[in-house]
Amino acid sequence: MDKLVIQGGHPFSGSVQIAGAKNAALPILAASLLGGAQVSLANVPHVSDVMSMLELLRGLGAEAGPLRNGRLSLSTADVVSSETTYDIVRRMRASFLVLAPLVGRFGHARISRPGGCAIGTRPVDLHLEALQQLGAEVRTEGGVIDVTAHGGLRGERIVFPAPSVGATHTAMMAAASASGESEIVNCAREPEIADTAAFLTAMGATIEGAGTHRMLVQGPTSWRAAHHTILPDRIEAASYLVAAGLTGGRLEVIGGRLEHLGAACHLLEAAGLSIFPSDRGLIAERRGALHSVDMATEAFPGFPTDLQAQFMTLMCLADGVSVIRERIFEQRFMHVPELQRMGADITLSGAAATVRGVPRLQGAEVMATDLRASMSLVLAGLVAEGETVVHRVYHLDRGYEDIDGKLTRCGAHIERVRQ
Ligand code: UD1
Repeated sequence: MDKLVIQGGHPFSGSVQIAGAKNAALPILAASLLGGAQVSLANVPHVSDVMSMLELLRGLGAEAGPLRNGRLSLSTADVVSSETTYDIVRRMRASFLVLAPLVGRFGHARISRPGGCAIGTRPVDLHLEALQQLGAEVRTEGGVIDVTAHGGLRGERIVFPAPSVGATHTAMMAAASASGESEIVNCAREPEIADTAAFLTAMGATIEGAGTHRMLVQGPTSWRAAHHTILPDRIEAASYLVAAGLTGGRLEVIGGRLEHLGAACHLLEAAGLSIFPSDRGLIAERRGALHSVDMATEAFPGFPTDLQAQFMTLMCLADGVSVIRERIFEQRFMHVPELQRMGADITLSGAAATVRGVPRLQGAEVMATDLRASMSLVLAGLVAEGETVVHRVYHLDRGYEDIDGKLTRCGAHIERVRQ
């Protein structure tokens, strides 16, 4: 288990290249199962979750070339199996995204029920209800979910009680392989949904309304080979904006897009950052002291839950009191005890954290618990006095490409110790 050793107190400067979005790459890789045609992708992030998805696809019989400079060629023509192994589903919840394309293509699939994770219980009822709405029969046998669509999936109207990113992906992929047209209502509006829709469209599907509350999806008569460039990772981009705000200095975030930040842009500016577009992305600068701002996580375009932990680190050093409410995942405060070890003043009460800004944080040994929580600890380490050691870096490697290399090039003093 690698660890990161960070010497705090070095301002950021220069630029950082943002990778493709992990949360678009994973559903797009899963969707490549639908057609069996040749797929070529660009801007695929080199992160371990993508490697796990490729391992899963290869296990099913797909041929995937090496991932080089973000480019990847993939053929799922020879996939015959529609059963996934527990090992990968346990490791990565997003493996569940292969269920809908497998059912759509083969009429049947078996997959392990994903377990809980560090950020709380994460049910899959909305995914399964969407499949049932399209005519699939769902049976649960122990820890295994078995889905059969006798005679294939049929287009229908799916109305979600609440927006879910994963379930919207499942519904969209299932609908694209169903006969007839489907309407999906109250769907998630995250930019990654529109990116997956663009990929499905490139493969031959017809999709209207991706990125809005209502989508119309019609599958193709035959799937075709497709090329797609994955959109930049808005959470990685925003994490580097926070880093620039914390450390001071001026940083260009190449690939960052204002329209992908949603409410995060306004809140980061209220906290004391200037964020403006450049030819290549976004530039962030800090204006004077950091200010406390209240924040609540929401579905897009609200403030993303995937940026809550990083924002909390910013608030730890702001002048005043900030109340941070987590409205998407009830237990997503695993970073709080670790930030407290570094001198942060945070009080937890249910799904709210009250953060009283302190003048400085102190370096400490801290433990990463999940992907985004880990980034909040790295950010804290960048500005803490002295040395911070972040253990269990594999959590970060799931979703941040070349984290130590990129931070070093921005001016951080950070070293990966391989163990
Ligand atoms: C995705 C992202 C994750 C992000 C999250 C919220 C991927 C691979 N992961 O996760 O990084 O934090 O969106 O933006 O894209 N829910 C149900 N039943 C379901 C599904 C979800 O009740 O069947 C609930 C969840 O418990 C949660 C809420 O819906 O409270 C939103 O979760 P969802 O949008 O589905 O998150 P994921 O797709 O798992």
